[in-house]
Amino acid sequence: MDDGWHRHYLTHPCGGFGILWKMKNKLILAIDGPAAAGKSTVAKLVAKKLNITYIDTGAMYRAFTLFVMQKGIDPQQQLSCESLIPQVKILLAPTGEVFLNGVDVSKAIRDPKVSAQVSYIASYKAIRLALVDLQRHMAGNQSVVMDGRDIGTYVLPEANIKIFQIASVETRAVRRYEENLSKGIACTLESVEEDLRHRDYIDSHRDFAPLKPANDSILIDTSFMTVNEVVDRILEIVHKKVGLIHA
Ligand code: CDP
Repeated sequence: MDDGWHRHYLTHPCGGFGILWKMKNKLILAIDGPAAAGKSTVAKLVAKKLNITYIDTGAMYRAFTLFVMQKGIDPQQQLSCESLIPQVKILLAPTGEVFLNGVDVSKAIRDPKVSAQVSYIASYKAIRLALVDLQRHMAGNQSVVMDGRDIGTYVLPEANIKIFQIASVETRAVRRYEENLSKGIACTLESVEEDLRHRDYIDSHRDFAPLKPANDSILIDTSFMTVNEVVDRILEIVHKKVGLIHA
């Protein structure tokens, strides 16, 4: 049966089979979920396996937040923050770096000070509309894996596959704490857990495009799963959805 997908296999450098997608219909894979649920780690790996583009929308809200902070503006002053929209140029490089007005801010946007403010910025409708526009433009006419909070519900509701990735807040806190330590970012486990709870609350209670699962999303609780298990589970869902037969 021709389901609109054209595909063939490539031998992966690591052995086994990687998959190169060639399609009439593009694949849009949306991965949403609360803070530090491991979405970007998984999304990056899934995109690599499928040889398609990965778009980290959280990095964009973080970059905007960094700009607000650099300008010395209070992130809780909505109108002042929104007035900065014309001055902000965000670029996600295919190699993963995040550029804010031409400067590589990949590391700076992960600072806990940015995490503590980003959910305020992300709750402002005009800023969301500007960034969503950019996200849709970046997705364009290609196959993508996009992760965030509102991808399946608002940004790309036409996504072929919508994953809602969760884990207990304790598990997420330990994961983010360890990630921060490995990157040399100073924090305590308690402060990380508090930040996650705070962001999840604001993200899921905002009026416009809040964090919530799309009706047609598939829930994956990763509390007791390794990264590779989650990646394999998502690839299995993709393969089932597009009728791929394993080699
Ligand atoms: O990596 P982590 O889970 O900590 O968060 P992130 O994906 O980098 O997103 C940072 C923040 O951006 C979130 O807490 C949300 O406030 C906001 N965000 C959003 O509102 N909508 C998105 N599509 C992505 C992120």
